[in-house]
Amino acid sequence: MSFLLGREIAPAEQPAFLAALGRAVRERTNLRPDVGLVLGSGLGGLADALDLEVAIPFGELPGWPPATAPGHAGQLLFGRLAGVSVVVQQGRFHLYEGHSAGFVAQPVLLMARLGAGVVVLTNAAGGVNPQFGAGTLMAIADHINLAGRSPLTGPNAPELGPRFPDMTGVWDAELRSRLHAAADAEGVALADGVYASLPGPSYETPAEVRMLARLGADAVGMSTALEAVAARWAGLRVCGVSLVTNPGAGLSGAELSHAEVLEIAATSGPALSRVLARFLGDLD
Ligand code: HPA
Repeated sequence: MSFLLGREIAPAEQPAFLAALGRAVRERTNLRPDVGLVLGSGLGGLADALDLEVAIPFGELPGWPPATAPGHAGQLLFGRLAGVSVVVQQGRFHLYEGHSAGFVAQPVLLMARLGAGVVVLTNAAGGVNPQFGAGTLMAIADHINLAGRSPLTGPNAPELGPRFPDMTGVWDAELRSRLHAAADAEGVALADGVYASLPGPSYETPAEVRMLARLGADAVGMSTALEAVAARWAGLRVCGVSLVTNPGAGLSGAELSHAEVLEIAATSGPALSRVLARFLGDLD
C-alpha cells in the first residue's frame, strides 16, 4: 500500500513527484510521447493495437500503488499507435480507492512532463440522457465536476499552471471534431454530451440520475473530471470519449452491476479503439 494513499497532494508538491516519476520512466525508455491516453474500465483492449516499446507496472513507479479496481490493468505503456508516439495509462486511479484528487491527476501531469501535448480520456459511464443506451459512444463536450474535490487545492505550482485556470475550453473543440471525423470514417456512431463526475463507488440512486439530467448531464461516472482539470491547468489539450455501458439507475428498471459494465465495455470497446486509432493516425 502506498504511503500516498489518501494524503492530499497540493499542486506545489507535484513538481518534485513528477521529477522522480520522470526519472524512473527515463531509466526505462527514451520515447517522447506526443499523446497520452487514459483507458477506462474494461477499455484496456486499445493497448493490444499498440506497437509496444515498454510496459511499466504502476507499482514500479515511485509512490504509485498497483491499480486495484477490477478491469484496470495498472501499467503505463509506451509505444506507437497508428504511427504516433503515445503513453497509455492502462487503468487509472480513482477517488473511491482512497486516492487524493492530486494523486488521481498525477498520471496526466506526468504525461505532460514526458512531452505529450494532447491527452485522451476514456471512461465507462452510465447514461443519463434517455437516448443513450448501452453501447453508446459519447464524445465529451464538457463536464460537471460533482466529485466535490479538485486536484488544484492547496498552494499552487505556477511553473506548471495558473492559480485560476480557465475551464471554458477544457474539452478541446477542435480535437472533438477530429474525434467525430474519425468516427465517421470508421462508420461508428458518436454522440456528444456532458459527463458528470461523482465520487462513487456506489452507483447513483434513481433520484440522483434525475437530478443529473436536470443539471444538464448526459452521462455519469466516477472518474475523468479531475484529470481533465489538471491536464488543462498544465497546458494539455484535452479530449475524451465515454462508453455508456448502462442506462443510469432508474432509467431501465434493471439493477446496475460492474460485471455488466465490463461486459458492455468488452463488446463496444473495439469500436472505440478503432475510432481512437483513426483519430491518432489523422493527427497532424
Ligand atoms: N454510474 C456511474 N459510473 C458508471 C456507471 C453508472 O451508471 N456505469 C459505468 N460507470
